[in-house]
Amino acid sequence: MTASERATSTSAESADEPPVVELDNVEIVYDRHFLAVQGVSMAAEEGDIVALLGPNGAGKSTILKMISGIGRTERGEVSRGHVFYDGEDVTNNGANEMVSRGVTHILEGRRVFEDLTVEENLRCGLYRGGRRFRFDEDDYEIAFEYFPQLKDILNLKAGYASGGQQQMLVIARALIHRPRLLLLDEPSLGLAPKLVQDIFETLVEINREEDITMIIADQNAKRTLNIADYGYVMENGQIELNDPADVLAEREEIKEFYLGTSSETSRYTDIRHYKIRKRWT
Ligand SMILES: Nc1ncnc2c1ncn2[C@@H]1O[C@H](COP(=O)(O)OP(=O)(O)OP(=O)(O)O)[C@@H](O)[C@H]1O
Ligand SMILES: [Mg+2]
Repeated sequence: MTASERATSTSAESADEPPVVELDNVEIVYDRHFLAVQGVSMAAEEGDIVALLGPNGAGKSTILKMISGIGRTERGEVSRGHVFYDGEDVTNNGANEMVSRGVTHILEGRRVFEDLTVEENLRCGLYRGGRRFRFDEDDYEIAFEYFPQLKDILNLKAGYASGGQQQMLVIARALIHRPRLLLLDEPSLGLAPKLVQDIFETLVEINREEDITMIIADQNAKRTLNIADYGYVMENGQIELNDPADVLAEREEIKEFYLGTSSETSRYTDIRHYKIRKRWT
């Protein structure tokens, strides 16, 4: 099934279901006065992969952090608007609360425990909030189902694993939580294109087979839109564009500024005043 067919079928199925997560006109401030995000409304429907795109500082990580509650620990606050999860108002809920509701956030930068082995890192996925939350060792087999490569490096200290292996490890560790909503921050950062392709293909498999809704914040627009159902493009803390991913990938402004494949560059620059920066590639 193509992304657009899935988008149609999921939205039809979920006609009376609320989205898994929905932001309604959200404003986010850090330290009570630094305005990072303004007037953002977005949603992730059940079973969808949502791409959150935009240049450095656009506000992508901030949005993920306020959905997962981690932003609270950085003095972030939703100062206007609402965040809903399964239709319930979860605005400014803490991270523990959101984890217990099935939200798992994979932070930017492949945060592995460097001095622990790959296996020990995976075992950490069995704990949540300092307590072991599952007792069946088989639960972490899900990690190997999608990332069998990890079996070969179980005894390697995670700090010595390659960037790609570390990225697989953090996704695998997150899967052990059996999340309902997985937030991924820059999963492609610094990885070779072939590796990004492999990891993104695996994310699609996970999305379909485990029915995990995903929001992927990434600067790699092409690859992210390729696997996403729906996309949002941010700039300066606001949503500039949003559309089904296949439609978004075809929009001239995205092609021109992001994908570098426009055939109508000059006409577009004449008639549109897009603020999307050239450096955002
Ligand atoms: N913990 C924080 N405290 C104060 N300001 C912050 C904090 N984190 C981010 N910001 C600011 O909020 C704005 C949005 O940053 P954010 O990290 O969400 O952007 P981003 O789109 O994820 O960028 P990048 O692509 O570089 O990761 C920026 O101006 C940034 O400096
Ligand atoms: Mg970020």
